[in-house]
Amino acid sequence: MCGIVGYAGYREALPILIDSLKRLEYRGYDSAGVAVVEDSVKIVKDKGYIANLESQLPQLRGVVGLAHTRWATHGAPSKDNAHPFYDCREKIALAHNGIIENYAELRDELKAHGHTFRSQTDTEVLVHLVEQSYAGNLEDAIRKALARCTGTYAIAVVHADEPDKLVAARNFSPLIVGLGAEENYVASDVPALLKYTDKVLYVMDREIVVLRPKSVQILDFEGRPVAREPQRITWSLEDAERGGFDHFMLKEIFEQPQAIHNTLLGRMTEVDTNGFFQDVTSVKLVACGTSYHASLVGKYVLEEVAKVPTTVELASEYRYAPTPTEQPLVILLSQSGETADTLGAAREAKRRGCKTLGITNGVGSSLTRETERTMYTRAGLEIGVAATKTFTAQLVALYLVAIRMGLDRGALSPEDANRLRDELRALPRHVQTVLNQADPIADLARAYAGARDMFFIGRGINYPVAMEGALKMKEISYIHAEAYAGGELKHGPLALLTPDTPVVAVTVRDRNYEKMMGNVGEVNARGSPVIAVGTEGGRDLPRFVEHVVYVPKVRDLLYPVPVSVVFQLLAYYAARKRGCPIDKPRNLAKTVTVE
Ligand code: F6R
Repeated sequence: MCGIVGYAGYREALPILIDSLKRLEYRGYDSAGVAVVEDSVKIVKDKGYIANLESQLPQLRGVVGLAHTRWATHGAPSKDNAHPFYDCREKIALAHNGIIENYAELRDELKAHGHTFRSQTDTEVLVHLVEQSYAGNLEDAIRKALARCTGTYAIAVVHADEPDKLVAARNFSPLIVGLGAEENYVASDVPALLKYTDKVLYVMDREIVVLRPKSVQILDFEGRPVAREPQRITWSLEDAERGGFDHFMLKEIFEQPQAIHNTLLGRMTEVDTNGFFQDVTSVKLVACGTSYHASLVGKYVLEEVAKVPTTVELASEYRYAPTPTEQPLVILLSQSGETADTLGAAREAKRRGCKTLGITNGVGSSLTRETERTMYTRAGLEIGVAATKTFTAQLVALYLVAIRMGLDRGALSPEDANRLRDELRALPRHVQTVLNQADPIADLARAYAGARDMFFIGRGINYPVAMEGALKMKEISYIHAEAYAGGELKHGPLALLTPDTPVVAVTVRDRNYEKMMGNVGEVNARGSPVIAVGTEGGRDLPRFVEHVVYVPKVRDLLYPVPVSVVFQLLAYYAARKRGCPIDKPRNLAKTVTVE
């Protein structure tokens, strides 16, 4: 959700800024802009993708600068609303990720002081506030400006009068520093830095960073220096490249056997220690989007394996819900570990006195600091905006949590735990079996890519999988897709079925098979084509449905993993046939750092 990069070094900043900004394009692509310090501060910006900005860049030789790729919140995507912004005298350039909540009153006040605004954004107040406070030292001016603001932000700022310096600051929006040899970087996320350094400093909330070619200083908002040890990043540059695949999404779908294997290997060392789950009497899973769907699957898993009552809530709802008296263990799931709603929910859970566990793929992400314990999914870097491998890795993480909790609570015998672990270890192989069918699944997706609407149905643990299938389909292909529990179709949605409305049904051989087949019969009676996902060896399915994709036989609880891989492939190939920008779907961004 908006990406920022900054550079202070000895090389020309512009190519480095553009190259690293491109690796953050998944965070937003409504507009892009760059500022480089020369004799004066030069800004170039425009609406649209970074490639569009790149095509119009003049030669800029400065060695300090910043750049921004935008996901619009306040103000439509346009050149005027693109970051960075100048102050009135065009000496300062500022880029921002987040939302300044009290911008309207600040804007009125600044206008009354004679400042001229050129955009409709909340961000522009920041640059005028810095201008107003500036008395020869940029970090002091930023500190004073931020003291006036409420909201969330990561900002990067340069000033023509201090040409060797870039100042950045953070409050609730992610920001990291990359350390090089006589050159230093800031960025919203790790991929921007992979080509340049593997040594990073994580900037915390309410901290300011002063970046110069040969030094990095971190200050708190009172101006006191803060000591911070650098950390090594383990992801490589290859992780941030497409590696022969046409899209990151397809690469990441195919990485799932490895991602699941790694998540299983990682286990949960932190949580394994000291009986963290022993006194747990109930669980609440809290997340957004795809992570919310993983949580819905997790409810079935925790209730069945650990025999613990579990509820699931959207993070954006949980934050503002009335406080109940019970204090469940709150498990927060977030691929990025930076989703604003999920971080807010983590704080709220702590405020309510609940124990918290974060499950995230974002090493060193904010969620790891907002929760008592962290369990990492080890899916590797995910760049495609649609979550794929991190979803199946989250499912695997939840199976592991359920096993540990079942053992800690005495609800699961060591023998049953070992049996389930063995079956988990077979999942990468089962997922590979699904991936091997990518070609026939692609044919099927192409055949129905012209549909206007689609339905996904499932029962029990596969109902949330249907929800995830529908989400993947709509966000990537723009086909309107809805998910229903199989039994719910007859309570309304059947009215929408026509021979042009494909219905994708999870009809695996689990405890709900017969009931699902009844629902498939209802669909057949309305003449809608059915694409069924069934279990290998189930020979009767083709008699009832137009198409079948088979997944390997697993225990009921594990079907969500192979079935969701089928859905990812269906969405991917449908989107491809429709010519959609798969890795950058319209209006979306990965890592939603605003509420
Ligand atoms: C959909 C998707 C989003 C995210 C959601 C939460 O494919 O990726 O729905 O799942 O924005 O993001 P995280 O998991 O990073 O908190």
